[in-house]
Amino acid sequence: MGRDVIVACDFASAEKVYEFLDKFEGGRKPFVKIGMELFYAEGPQIVREIKKRGHKIFLDLKLHDIPNTVKKSMAVLSNLDVDITNLHASGTIRMMEGALEGLTRPDGTRPLLIAVTQLTSTDQESMENDLLIKEPIDKVVMHYAHNAKVAGLDGVVCSPLEAGKVHETCGKDFLTITPGVRFADGDIGDQKRVMTPAQAKEIGSDYIVVGRPITAAEDPVAAYNRCVEEFCD
Ligand code: C5P
Repeated sequence: MGRDVIVACDFASAEKVYEFLDKFEGGRKPFVKIGMELFYAEGPQIVREIKKRGHKIFLDLKLHDIPNTVKKSMAVLSNLDVDITNLHASGTIRMMEGALEGLTRPDGTRPLLIAVTQLTSTDQESMENDLLIKEPIDKVVMHYAHNAKVAGLDGVVCSPLEAGKVHETCGKDFLTITPGVRFADGDIGDQKRVMTPAQAKEIGSDYIVVGRPITAAEDPVAAYNRCVEEFCD
């Protein structure tokens, strides 16, 4: 899979997400991110339905539990035929290895498996005070990315500002999926450290995850096409 734009379909019901996806009928079908909100509201059927409509899917459920539980849960998710799914690197290398084992189907195929390092909502202060991790956050992010690589995963979710360093540390084929993308003339909302699609391309992101700049745009198809032009072409 080459560079692509993943649209974060952060809607609370199937009806709303179909209404949104219908706008793309006849054109390029976006790679869709299904998060916890939509998955918990609608269950696995929503994944099958969106897949049936011809979209690639990133199932963003961020698993984190004991290795055996994650392994068994990933085995269930592998039946959904998604393209990418994820977990928390903080669950340890053993948990990530278990996840990979569970996700791998009997024929050897599997979705790409990506790790969340430190959430971008965690800063140095909360990491030190709440989690008692005293190292610099950049070092922690790179260490978790390295652990994901050691466990055999395919890449990490990270800030576009970290994508270059992740590639330096883990190799250029180790995938970086980067949210926090905004148009140069757009509203940044609650995201703090943002980049344009063109800058994310420049820095070497493999996939950008874009939500509100597309879902809340007056013309979502035009906003999506603009992202594709800036990032993929
Ligand atoms: O609307 P917006 O473009 O900010 O959406 C970004 C998407 O990426 C949301 O689904 C958000 O949960 C997700 N995300 C993020 N930052 C992370 C991990 C995921 O914004 N570190």
